[in-house]
Amino acid sequence: MNCLVTGGAGFIGSHLCEVLLEKGHNVTVIDDLSIGSTENLKEFLENGLIKFVQGDILEESLLDDLISKSDIVFHLAAVVGVKHVVDNPVRGIYVNYGGTEKVLRLCHLHKKRVVFTSSSEVYGKSKMIPFSEEGDMVLGPSYVPRWSYAVSKALGEHLAIGLSKKGLAATVVRYFNAYGPKSKPDGYGSVVAKFTVQAINNLPITVFGDGSQIRAFSYVKDIARGTMLAGMSENSVGKIYNIGGNNKIKIFDLAEKIRDMVSSSSPIKLIPPDEEYGKNFEDIDLRCADMRKAREELNFECKISLEEGLQKTIEWFRAVPLKKLA
Ligand SMILES: NC(=O)c1ccc[n+]([C@@H]2O[C@H](COP(=O)([O-])OP(=O)(O)OC[C@H]3O[C@@H](n4cnc5c(N)ncnc54)[C@H](O)[C@@H]3O)[C@@H](O)[C@H]2O)c1
Repeated sequence: MNCLVTGGAGFIGSHLCEVLLEKGHNVTVIDDLSIGSTENLKEFLENGLIKFVQGDILEESLLDDLISKSDIVFHLAAVVGVKHVVDNPVRGIYVNYGGTEKVLRLCHLHKKRVVFTSSSEVYGKSKMIPFSEEGDMVLGPSYVPRWSYAVSKALGEHLAIGLSKKGLAATVVRYFNAYGPKSKPDGYGSVVAKFTVQAINNLPITVFGDGSQIRAFSYVKDIARGTMLAGMSENSVGKIYNIGGNNKIKIFDLAEKIRDMVSSSSPIKLIPPDEEYGKNFEDIDLRCADMRKAREELNFECKISLEEGLQKTIEWFRAVPLKKLA
């Protein structure tokens, strides 16, 4: 199949490209390199395995041309990461909703299959644990910039589901805290990357709040495989799937685990989240996925344990010159 990956030079997108290539698909990437890097695609570019187009998904004529030549679009391009969104919520909304609207509308026009990548952020402050696809979204006020990310993703989901009732073959996947090689210490769910870099350099490992927040981390290769399965399944059209792992851990325990695995002498330093994100920041205590739907309908399950995934991540960060992470 001819696959278009928007945001394919980013963290998850570059792993998705690899998974698609392994299955023999043709891959084209559009990325504006605002956050991602061609370094993430180096081996595929050097071997002529993918086509790379540097461009903005808000440029409709370029997008139209690329979508018209594809069989399936994996839409990952977004302004990602609490920090990026809090710093520039307007750009986040333009890209994360405006860009998604263009991608979905053009896929509808050209009758193309599409997978829209949403986020566990849409569950917000919901207490319905574990989060299931049919559960409520509980979001905070519009004065708090972090919620603009969840709102723009949720609106994209509504559009995907709405257009699927009008003939668009769309599937939504909601990712839960991906980690692994090629993640950036300042990216989304990047706490693993940040702690790893701090531990390798024997710097204080900075934990927001008291570190009692619980997250379920998902190794990026698993996430990429789940995304491909969602796009290739005939029964997933018009549906939403959680794509994540069951590796639940407290953030403080994660800091200790990474420090031990790195054999680092880093102290663990608790800092108030508003020092990084400003006064209005609202943190989520517990976030984990109900994976029954993806397991039953997509035959998807994360295979990589937290220990194995952390080991691979640590090895990758040890091998990469830190200036390349900036
Ligand atoms: N990483 C996670 O844990 C996580 C969790 C939930 C959802 N997601 C979603 O998964 C997708 C991929 O996330 P990621 O972690 O790989 O982030 P990433 O920042 O590494 O990748 C996003 C890519 O989109 C590109 N991009 C941004 N704006 C663009 C534009 N206007 N036009 C073209 N390209 C543009 C960036 O340069 C980057 O390469 C995003 O849609 C994100 O919202 C990620």
